[in-house]
Amino acid sequence: MAAEILDGKGISKQIQSETKTKVAQFVTQFGIKPVLAAVLVGDDPASHVYVRNKERACARVGIESQLHRMSSSSSTDDVLARVMQLNDDPIVNGILVQLPLPDQADARVVLDAIDPLKDVDAFHPHNVGLISQGRPRFLPCTPHGIVQMLKRYGIQTAGKQVCVIGRSDIVGKPMAMMLAQRDSELGPELANATVTLCHSRTTDLARTTVQADILIAAMGRPNFVTCEMIKPGAVVVDVGINRVGDRLVGDVDFDAAMTIASYVTPVPGGVGPLTVTMLLENTLMAAKLQRMESPSIRTSRIQPNA
Ligand code: GUN
Repeated sequence: MAAEILDGKGISKQIQSETKTKVAQFVTQFGIKPVLAAVLVGDDPASHVYVRNKERACARVGIESQLHRMSSSSSTDDVLARVMQLNDDPIVNGILVQLPLPDQADARVVLDAIDPLKDVDAFHPHNVGLISQGRPRFLPCTPHGIVQMLKRYGIQTAGKQVCVIGRSDIVGKPMAMMLAQRDSELGPELANATVTLCHSRTTDLARTTVQADILIAAMGRPNFVTCEMIKPGAVVVDVGINRVGDRLVGDVDFDAAMTIASYVTPVPGGVGPLTVTMLLENTLMAAKLQRMESPSIRTSRIQPNA
């Protein structure tokens, strides 16, 4: 029997409608809108599309967005200066520096300079540390979107074998870390997995992937995951967005996965829309955190391991 498609686009619409309601409540309570500032350096066409999508999504839910465009010749110091200015601007709740930056601008230095309370990507080492300790302030958008989608399809991770392919700071590492925790914002059923993190140096990758109840592909190699790598009945989550000719394809051979898996995310329309959606949630969260009085409340939104 063919697998069921995990409709990330549909789930995104549902979550955005919930976010819209929560944003309206925030506006009623505080008399101001949450504000997201996006810093876009250079002319990378894909980055321009991503940032435009984020701006449109903000508008849909009532979040105000600012676009700070900078020239492709901007130095690390130029971008740092803009980040500092946004850190100090009380109007701005969330700051996003779109990656990749041009070669001459050091992304690590820039991301480390973002105020951790405005770090809606959850890339700052302070926020990464809180995630690793199981008491996140913000959750990184793509892994958070994946967990939200699993939850809404009634798919649990507790006790399951999860294999994540790809060890990026944006997806692979935080995804593995989140699913291995004792608890999550969405309950212990969406944590407590036995996680294997595979990468380019993993030997005999298929031997590991084929044991996974949930397989998350996030390495950026078109159609890399084939039928033989998938356990019959597995849930397959494809994070890849690769341009092949004039088509976008994922890291998973979609047609093959549909013949063997129980659930598969499509590309496009799977994980991608959820990443943008969770950015909206994080911006609202940032706006709320900045209005809280007690600094201790601002370090985390769930209780550490019980
Ligand atoms: N470039 C690709 N993905 C992302 C992301 O999630 N956040 C930012 N800031 N840049 C990206």
